[in-house]
Amino acid sequence: MLDLDSFFSKRAVEGFKPSAIREILKYGSDPSIISFGGGYPDPQYFPKEYFTEAMDYVLCSLTDKALQYGSTEGVKELREWLINFEEEEEKVKLELDEIIITIGSQQGFDLLCKVLLDPGDTVLVEEPSYIGALTAFYGFQVNPVSVPMDESGIILEELENICQNLGKKNIKPKFIYVIPNFQNPAGVTLSLERRVRLLEIASKYNMLVVEDNPYGDLIYEGDKILPIKSMDTEGKVIYLRTFSKILFPGLRLGWFMGNKALVRKVVIAKQSSDLCTTSLGQYATYEYCRRGYLKPHVEYMATRYARKRNTMIKAIEKYFPPEVKYTRPSGGYFVWLTLPEYLNADEMFWKAIEAKVAYVIGSAFHVEGRGKNTIRLSFSQVGETAITEGIKRLAKVITQEIDIFNKISAISL
Ligand SMILES: Cc1ncc(COP(=O)(O)O)c(C=O)c1O
Repeated sequence: MLDLDSFFSKRAVEGFKPSAIREILKYGSDPSIISFGGGYPDPQYFPKEYFTEAMDYVLCSLTDKALQYGSTEGVKELREWLINFEEEEEKVKLELDEIIITIGSQQGFDLLCKVLLDPGDTVLVEEPSYIGALTAFYGFQVNPVSVPMDESGIILEELENICQNLGKKNIKPKFIYVIPNFQNPAGVTLSLERRVRLLEIASKYNMLVVEDNPYGDLIYEGDKILPIKSMDTEGKVIYLRTFSKILFPGLRLGWFMGNKALVRKVVIAKQSSDLCTTSLGQYATYEYCRRGYLKPHVEYMATRYARKRNTMIKAIEKYFPPEVKYTRPSGGYFVWLTLPEYLNADEMFWKAIEAKVAYVIGSAFHVEGRGKNTIRLSFSQVGETAITEGIKRLAKVITQEIDIFNKISAISL
């Protein structure tokens, strides 16, 4: 048998890490387990009929263009539609050469790393942060340094301290990566005041801001807060958006926005990756959007997911012991649990599986293996009755763990 170890690149050996979520997703296929694992949309809400109508039109009327290779930047009509969408919905003003269509935001991370990062570079991330982005950063052998968060997002005093301490060691972070809306995994939202101040800090320390916003349209309470990109007068903010959570992830379509010079580099990097994003998918999506179907669909989904969120929060309030802290997201897919420090959610995972409920271990979203007492719950894909039952099961597991700890503590006194 050929031994490939000596062939693998340093990057493949040192940088590539399997995603904890992908590992856990296999439990989602056991129907007896209620899984709060993956941040997948509910397929019941996929707009099958209207998307089929758009796709039929494209296949019949735009056949040659839709089945051909396209430009690396993406289909012009879709980019123009998105420029208009960004200006109307988010006050983000863009020129055509400031936007490129990517294969989901995930490709955006990869391309961004390709054009900005060298091995050994430092980037700043929220703690906790999105696994997919962390995995992309690890793949480029950089050092992610994490900045703590509270219920209003990243803590700016901590950010300044970290920047100053890194500065003393002559380390200059290339960028800070943030998910300001209904964060994955913590479910919290970065306040407007902090968005403004974050941009000022980024300018002071001369770093870029990578703003990732997959969930920002799925609002269940409160008003939309404008993206950091809308306040960017220096071209410092790179803004990533995706159709994955507002249409469906099988499309693999995202839009990447930034300063012209950076987008140009990203276009060149993408040429060597895949030449172009799916023409067929882009034309069908454009047609779907042009017909005015996106906005009502997003509004419909927001009402549906809001009900799931309410069900989960109600069940948590009813069944969880008071020792467990939880976030109450005003949009998106996730609730974040903080168990007492003495509990280990990584080890408890197997007990939860025995009790037929699955979650994602919070430590997977931490850079240095911290957060062993944290858990991410996703309510997006689970039916309301199953949400209540799953929370009941999890509450029982957590309560038992707390009881065991209390008994052991009493004995050792
Ligand atoms: C915060 C965040 N960023 C990016 C992505 C990736 O999205 P895409 O499907 O567009 O690659 C996800 C997907 O779950 C996400 O939660």
